Amino acid sequence: MRLDKLLSNMGYGSRKDVKLIVKNKRVTVNSKVIKDSGIKVDPNHDAIMVDGIKVEYKPYIYIMMNKPPGVISATEDRVDKTVIDLLTPEFKHYDPFPVGRLDKDTEGLLLITNDGQLAHQLLSPKKDIEKTYYARISGNVTDIDIEEFAKGVILEDGYQAKPAKLKIIQSGAKSEIEVTITEGKYHQVKRMFEAVGKKVIYLKRLSMGELRLDETLKLGTYRELNEAELSYCHSIK
Ligand code: URA
Repeated sequence: MRLDKLLSNMGYGSRKDVKLIVKNKRVTVNSKVIKDSGIKVDPNHDAIMVDGIKVEYKPYIYIMMNKPPGVISATEDRVDKTVIDLLTPEFKHYDPFPVGRLDKDTEGLLLITNDGQLAHQLLSPKKDIEKTYYARISGNVTDIDIEEFAKGVILEDGYQAKPAKLKIIQSGAKSEIEVTITEGKYHQVKRMFEAVGKKVIYLKRLSMGELRLDETLKLGTYRELNEAELSYCHSIK
């Protein structure tokens, strides 16, 4: 891999910026000061330093975001702000993408990564990865809905949703629930409630597989996955 590409990927600026850093003798490879930013390096074996600080090469980035409402789960959009727009350049340069989609108005757990294999596993219908949502519902959610969800409700287009676990936190004209599903069809939770004559008025994803939303993350903020979360991700690949 070219040194300038590696340093640029690691957040040291554009190739032009990196060229300047190298020209200013700030970069060493295996303790030798480098003059040519185009030399080939092996990030797994060569000791690369900038200003005496080791460049820790990592090919993948794994970010947990508490998605705020009003931004879309995409990498770019002509009109709306995307979840990627919320990342600092340090993370953006990995070209990460959101794993699956949350609606514009949905909040909560969103994994953002550049690891396509992991994304594929988490989203694969065959894997039955559970996703749990907290929702506020306009309408009285009852035990009958729990049974309907357990059987698999039929959506407006005739599709029968897979069995889902519904837990009532509070019933009444406005109900609070938690629902766990294993698929991710467009507007799935909202459409499942429409199928039983009710409306989702607030939706937040709490978990995806063993990844649980870190409630200390304020809306719109994020952090890299910790060791336990990473080892779960690697275990399903
Ligand atoms: N189900 C929905 O209806 N919307 C989401 O954002 C996620 C699941």
